[in-house]
Amino acid sequence: MRLDKFLAQSSGFSRKDVRKMMRAGEITVNGAEARDPALHISDDDYICLDGMPLEAPGEQYLMLYKPEGCVCSNDDATHPTVLGLLDLPRADEMIICGRLDVDTTGLVLITTDGKWAHRVTSPKHKTGKIYHVETADPIPQDAIEKFEQGLMLHNEPFRTKPAKLEIISDYEAHVTLTEGRYHQVKRMFAAIGNKVESLHRAQVGGIVLDEFLEPGEYRDLTDEEVNSIYG
Ligand code: URA
Repeated sequence: MRLDKFLAQSSGFSRKDVRKMMRAGEITVNGAEARDPALHISDDDYICLDGMPLEAPGEQYLMLYKPEGCVCSNDDATHPTVLGLLDLPRADEMIICGRLDVDTTGLVLITTDGKWAHRVTSPKHKTGKIYHVETADPIPQDAIEKFEQGLMLHNEPFRTKPAKLEIISDYEAHVTLTEGRYHQVKRMFAAIGNKVESLHRAQVGGIVLDEFLEPGEYRDLTDEEVNSIYG
């Protein structure tokens, strides 16, 4: 990796600031002042900023409690984005693992690790996503079997994959999906003649939305949570 990229990623400063620091002689590589931003560094090099060693930038894995009104995209002309809630350098380059609608709340996973993100979102790996749903009309018992058998959605040629529906009360249920089609939960309820009034994602695989997070807040995933995706 180039030295300026390493420095920006591990310190959080911009590449421009990092170059200024180099010119000021504040950066050393293996004890010697380094002034070439393009210098190629390897894992064995010992890099310091103002005498303080810098750690190699690792991958980042976050859970965020998405509030209503915020969109899951990298930029948007009219709404705030989930990445805008992150007080982190280069947040806009992070990957959002599966998108929620603007009016859906709950668990969003965000990472720098493309392979991990693919693992979370690819239907091939059958990572379950659990939603809490409130509906306009009572949910009939026979909906459980219909969700299990798969539904034909408007304008789509293939049936949905088997989904688990657990009815909590007349107007409330948990739905577990292993795929993520556009507006899928809302369209599945529409396919059985009902309407989703509110939708909240509570869990992705073994990762449960932290009860201590408020809407708009986020935290790092634990190693156990990160690794659970491969389990
Ligand atoms: N299904 C939906 O309809 N909306 C979401 O945001 C997520 C799943």
